[in-house]
Amino acid sequence: MIALLEKSKVLGEVKVSGSKNAFFPAVGAGIALGAEKIIIKNTPKIKDVFVMLELLKELGCEYKIQNSEVIINAEKIKLNDVSPENFGKIRGSVVIFGSLLGRFENAKIPMPGGCKIGKRPIDQHIKAANSLGYKVEEKEEYVKAYGTPKKDGKIKFDIKTVTGTENAILMSINSKVEIENVAIEPEVQELINYLKKYGVDIRLETEEDKIFIDGTKRKKIKEAEFELIPDRIEAGTWLILAAATEGKLKIKNVIAEHIKAVIDVLKECGAKIKIYENKIEVEGSEKYKSVDLLIADSYPAFPTDLQPQICVMLLKAEGKSRIKDNIFPERVSHIWELKKMGADISLENGEIIINPSKIYGAEIEAKDLRSTAALVIAGLVAEKNQTILKNFGIIERGYENFVKKLKNVNAKIEVFEDEIRKEEIIKGISKYVPYST
Ligand code: EPU
Repeated sequence: MIALLEKSKVLGEVKVSGSKNAFFPAVGAGIALGAEKIIIKNTPKIKDVFVMLELLKELGCEYKIQNSEVIINAEKIKLNDVSPENFGKIRGSVVIFGSLLGRFENAKIPMPGGCKIGKRPIDQHIKAANSLGYKVEEKEEYVKAYGTPKKDGKIKFDIKTVTGTENAILMSINSKVEIENVAIEPEVQELINYLKKYGVDIRLETEEDKIFIDGTKRKKIKEAEFELIPDRIEAGTWLILAAATEGKLKIKNVIAEHIKAVIDVLKECGAKIKIYENKIEVEGSEKYKSVDLLIADSYPAFPTDLQPQICVMLLKAEGKSRIKDNIFPERVSHIWELKKMGADISLENGEIIINPSKIYGAEIEAKDLRSTAALVIAGLVAEKNQTILKNFGIIERGYENFVKKLKNVNAKIEVFEDEIRKEEIIKGISKYVPYST
């Protein structure tokens, strides 16, 4: 899929969809709790969600979708082998590990995938299962865990991991466990809320980064119903997009607290932001202040999932900015594409260095989900020429109705399904002149 983008200011209103990364632990909670029927409200219709639903089908579940509600029938869920191909398409699939352990005290999974943004091992997920007393068999193609978990256990993570923490919670659901050095991202906190709702005694001590869970007294349930929180990364993408395009946007269905670090950075740079209950208004400006050193790290710090997007905005800053991504230091594919547009951006000693630059329309290629969002912003900011963004289809993995939402707020974007038509598209667009430095 190819997107054709042209400089535009976004104006108007946009509504954020349900959270992609809260969907996986919601499914996990339903399975681990033993529910036969799992209802998930406010589910975004995105590719990663559909891949997860296909995986559930392989495990013997059935599902239907009614508007933004997904209804999963997990009555016949079994320990089937799931296809490595589907499992490897997304990262969220890894929560199937903890969910099956919670439900059956047994699980076998192939290797999870997701965006290629650096090494993404699952050693900490395995450590959690080992610490709980499961026997773990680790092969190149799969991980298998079985046995009886300890009734009283302790898990201590070496590093903070989001889906690792979710898995540790899910596999501990019938025990009394203390989990140390946990990730406290809103999606993890939502999983805690999901379980609390169904009688699991679970609490998060944010000061100590510890979770205490006691599922030994919970009752059996037949049905579980969850509502997904708004997607904080989608909300943050809109904020940055509006600021970078000098636009004015009302962003609805957003929990401002979940993107406080992003709001703070944008305000420091000079964007005007007003916060209301459930809604944020942002107004961009022509020039921004640079940031000395922005560190992307675990919540509540600035999220790595918005690092590529903020890079584009900082090109408009008046001085040099530096960014260090502590979570995925190799999440840099956007840098090489932005350079093709004339950006003075580089990678030096593990830091992204951004110097003030004007960027110009060019032919560029997206490599992963968040860099696609960043390159869309770049295409809307770029001077002179239109931008041809190849591989734009990746966006459908994580942003619901992105093109429709963009068009609604005045963004100039057209999408073409197939690569073969590229020459035709370029020919048809008289304005398109390839940028050369
Ligand atoms: N890590 C390990 N060993 C592990 C697990 C993680 O070394 O066993 C490392 C990773 O390599 C990384 C760091 O720990 O350097 C943190 O990774 P984490 O496990 O927290 O990431 P994740 O759970 O795989 C989730 C999101 C990502 C998001 C990260 C960080 C889901 C499905 N995915 O991934 O979302 O970037 O947390 O916040 O929840 C996205 O939506 O585009 C996306 C990539």
